[in-house]
Amino acid sequence: MALILAPDEQAILTAASALAEGKLVAIPTETVYGLAADATNGDAVAGIFEAKGRPHFNPLICHVSDIAMAARYAVIDPLSRRLMDAFWPGPLTLVLPLKPDTAIHPLVAAGLDTIALRMPRGVAGKIIAVLDRPLAAPSANTSGKISGTSAEAVADDLGQKIALILDAGPSEVGLESTIVKVDGDGVLLLRPGGLTAEDIEAVIGGKLNRIDQRAAIQAPGMMVSHYAPSAGVRLNVHEVREGEALLAFGPERARGAERALASFNLSQTGNLREAAANLFDFMKRLDSLGGAVIAVEPIPFNGLGEAINDRLVRAAAPRVSSIAEMEQIK
Ligand code: TXA
Ligand code: MG
Repeated sequence: MALILAPDEQAILTAASALAEGKLVAIPTETVYGLAADATNGDAVAGIFEAKGRPHFNPLICHVSDIAMAARYAVIDPLSRRLMDAFWPGPLTLVLPLKPDTAIHPLVAAGLDTIALRMPRGVAGKIIAVLDRPLAAPSANTSGKISGTSAEAVADDLGQKIALILDAGPSEVGLESTIVKVDGDGVLLLRPGGLTAEDIEAVIGGKLNRIDQRAAIQAPGMMVSHYAPSAGVRLNVHEVREGEALLAFGPERARGAERALASFNLSQTGNLREAAANLFDFMKRLDSLGGAVIAVEPIPFNGLGEAINDRLVRAAAPRVSSIAEMEQIK
């Protein structure tokens, strides 16, 4: 079972040396817990795919300690730089052209000529600064499962497969980072996440471009069936059916809410920030009841509601319709 440590100075050094030796360490970030490996060590990065059971074509986000470290590996255009200045450290990932011949192992970007970079808040940044190398880190969960937002969730899911988990309490944001890519004068939203489109639009002084969510898989975090609980998920529920567990939102209840096996309210007051922080934890808890279906009350689409609804739609997606799809989901 993984060792779980509070993230004090000693633990930061312990984590950095484990990472330098090629081990996997689960680290807290403000978005979700990350399953981290030294991004320059191909064996270590391969270990991430193994531990998560994740398809190899899925490129990983590389975490840096500051903009100077980002500039070692990627070509930073002026608009991307403005976004870094505005939002780093924080829940924003930028996809940038990868410089040739860097130390980053090609497996991290799955052979692409771009790299997804992000500077996390808190203890993760300190570990990266000590290590002085970027960390490849997808969310710390088995592939296709709900992202880990606490050390306990990570230990439950991956504790047998990793050596060390740093425990900094529940993730503050609770949703993965927003991923964007600067494309000429425009900025393309690749994955909605913990930073709202509105916040980004205020800095760029214009609208984000959006890809057709149903189009080809641009980013595998965008695979339709992702974040899947074992239970089925029914969205925009106004009436709870017999035997369903209820994921509620806001002060008013769906009809028949008293019938629910159990219920958790993402935010009693309808606060989307609170809802985002609770989302994965509550889905996991409702799922563990073993009911067939989790019914979810309607959640507005503004602000963080976009990313929350995005994750819920993925959780509700039909699981398998072909062998090829099954290959991708696992
Ligand atoms: O908040 C987060 O972003 C968390 C924490 C741990 O930092 N990390 C995370 O990483 O969600 P992961 O590996 O689960 O998600 C990586 C996403 C995938 O959707 C992947 O396709 C996309 O980033 N991605 C990575 N490199 C890319 C690239 N070069 N071009 C386009 N998308 C890329
Ligand atoms: Mg993930």
